[in-house]
Amino acid sequence: MSLQRRHFDSLILGAGGAGLRAALQLAEAEARVAVVSKVFPTRSHTVAAQGGVNAALANVSADNWHWHMYDTVKGSDYLGDQDAIEYMCRAASNIVYELEHYGVPFSRLENGRIYQRPFGGQSQNFGGDQASRTCAAADRTGHAILHSLYQQNIRAKTHFFDEYFAIDLIRDAEGVILGALVLDIASGEPLLIEAKTTLIATGGCGQLFRTNTNTNTNTNAHINTGDGMAMALRAGIPLQDMEFFQFHPTGIAGKGMLITEGARGEGGYLINAEGERFMERYAPNARDLASRDVVSRSIATEIREGRGCGPDKDHVLLKVDHLGEAVVAKRLPGIRDTCRTFLHIDPASEPIPVFPTAHYVMGGIPSNRFGEVVVPVGEGPEEAIPGLYAAGECACVSIHGANRLGGNSLLDILVFGRAAGNRIIDYLKQNRFHRPMSESSLEAAMARLQRWDQAGDGERVDQLSSDLKRVMESHCGVFRTEQVMHEGIEALQQLRRRMAEVRLNDSSKVFNTARVEALELENLMDIAMATMMAAEARQESRGAHSRVDYPERDDSNWLKHSLYFLQDDQLEFKPVRTNPLSVESFPPKPRVY
Ligand code: FUM
Repeated sequence: MSLQRRHFDSLILGAGGAGLRAALQLAEAEARVAVVSKVFPTRSHTVAAQGGVNAALANVSADNWHWHMYDTVKGSDYLGDQDAIEYMCRAASNIVYELEHYGVPFSRLENGRIYQRPFGGQSQNFGGDQASRTCAAADRTGHAILHSLYQQNIRAKTHFFDEYFAIDLIRDAEGVILGALVLDIASGEPLLIEAKTTLIATGGCGQLFRTNTNTNTNTNAHINTGDGMAMALRAGIPLQDMEFFQFHPTGIAGKGMLITEGARGEGGYLINAEGERFMERYAPNARDLASRDVVSRSIATEIREGRGCGPDKDHVLLKVDHLGEAVVAKRLPGIRDTCRTFLHIDPASEPIPVFPTAHYVMGGIPSNRFGEVVVPVGEGPEEAIPGLYAAGECACVSIHGANRLGGNSLLDILVFGRAAGNRIIDYLKQNRFHRPMSESSLEAAMARLQRWDQAGDGERVDQLSSDLKRVMESHCGVFRTEQVMHEGIEALQQLRRRMAEVRLNDSSKVFNTARVEALELENLMDIAMATMMAAEARQESRGAHSRVDYPERDDSNWLKHSLYFLQDDQLEFKPVRTNPLSVESFPPKPRVY
């Protein structure tokens, strides 16, 4: 059967907030836009975001975008690029008002304004009060945003390919991206989507870590397998800052489901087995609302030092029961449901057992504030890859640097989804025709799919997948050392060799999810190596990257971004952009909360 082809102005891989916000910008500008999603769009992982989206609206506390920028730079442990951070924080208020006009049902204050709550790492410089910067729809903010964006896209006539899996980017001999080869999961047949521009918005890779063990869990949907990041690697594009993986302080212990930082924003707090509010020792000012890396390490330290709760002393407790049933019902209904379902407790009357859980990758595809994917070219400045864009968790702009602040992820996907949409509109004005597609540019992508067409005996995908997660947990967790990571790299090399021997039992085509899982595992394998190699190389502690053997931040040697290339597992580095667009730079200072 000959290869099916479709043509669009713009192809978007991924239907989370970044993809849908970009698609809306394009569809409203009358571009022909296709969104490819491996699940039905409203099942994308944005739906799981709980606590809110940051914008200095100043509805509850005094605030302005400059404080938001300062908090974000400080939260990033000074690794964030300050031009992009300024751009994002300045855009935030309008982005939130736009959402309101799209129909997002934000919670309200008595005076009708959008409800905002404090979140981790927000300044306390407003007459002693903490900023309340996180705009919330109860604790289901991502759900509300994703559904509104999807509905707006339906209105704007965006074309959706639901349950199609992106296999690889297609690139011509001059390096221009021509679209992607995708797999129709239902029929098992490939489809070539030719497009003048392609935006990667495929989200994160939390499935590097296990979902449901005593000490290792993640908050991520099963779909978060780093597909777009791995596609970029295979196209010769490096991944930036992959050593920085965020552990959210409050996952349900032993299960991993997210208990929003909003619970602490509403006044909840953590206690150890002695009933002590231990965050007072680690972050005397911000306490439970210090940044996530600080709170996660503090919980891990309490447990390592024997002050954990429960028979196995393996978790701490999050208390919201003192807030009263009305506050829990109004502000935290989602986590109340989650606790009832998975713990059979009501947090309005009992504390919640929590433990840090793998949540978010700060690194990703190197991109700039226009959403263009940028790569180093010799000794000169970075250059944008023609026709290729990235936005959302799979991208590294870099606004989150070494540690992301809660509430900045929803903001990131919206600001840079829109920015990418605008940049693509400009590109389409200059590039009105599809470029020729040669058969040779399709070969690698077709071979990747055909590799799984033959059934046989060999290693199994599920076995390798669980071995991979075990290696990541044991060798690349919250606390890291040279030796442990060196052993981790060797273990990953072994897994790579075993990957060549993996075979499927069933090579049928129709809705063969095993084939999709095999393709996802290949993606995770490459992302794991990027993460481990970059983490081994960075000989300092910064943000979420905590080296027991190098406990201090080292700005003289390490105020720089890492770049991992798949070819020969190469690492390079590039400078941090410390100059904002219009205000003075925030130079590195000790980071205390
Ligand atoms: O805790 C939360 O609600 C998560 C928010 C985020 O990751 O930004």
